[in-house]
Amino acid sequence: MQKSMRILLLAAWLGCTTGPALCANSLYEQLGAAAGVHRIVGAALRRYYTDPRLHDDFDNVNQVWLQPRFETFICHVTDGPCLYKGRSMAASHRGLHIDQARFNAAVEDLQDGMDEAGVPFRLQNRLLARLAPMERDIVTR
Ligand code: HEM
Repeated sequence: MQKSMRILLLAAWLGCTTGPALCANSLYEQLGAAAGVHRIVGAALRRYYTDPRLHDDFDNVNQVWLQPRFETFICHVTDGPCLYKGRSMAASHRGLHIDQARFNAAVEDLQDGMDEAGVPFRLQNRLLARLAPMERDIVTR
């Protein structure tokens, strides 16, 4: 097999679409690493703070406090080089009495934020699949 063919096969195996030089193998890297996660979380939180379905929840939460925590959390769950040491999803959302409708609204805003950040649909779904199991800790009503 020619060397160029082997490189292409390796790239395909790694899930790369842009060529070996830009190959990224963790979901974190495919989302654009720190800069990409920063853009995604920024775009999602901007929506959380203004969405009429959600903004009451965030009234007393400082975005400057929340954003880096959220970014570290996303970095951690997408196999990036971060260790999330914040509270568990159950502990941080306990007492907020989040129902299914508000949870769905947050997911929708995250999807719109990822659209804004230019994240391909396939990667959006991979991130959402990692967050989906947390629903049972976050939705308590
Ligand atoms: C998959 C969905 C969600 C994820 C991954 C997520 C993630 C997080 C993270 C990482 C924190 C910081 C925790 C800490 O460092 O202590 C946090 C806090 C918070 N989240 Fe979520 N969250 C989600 C859904 C929601 C929803 C649906 C709401 C409201 C409708 C919400 C409202 C809040 C609020 C108000 C805080 C701040 C709590 C405080 O002041 O202590 N979150 N969330």
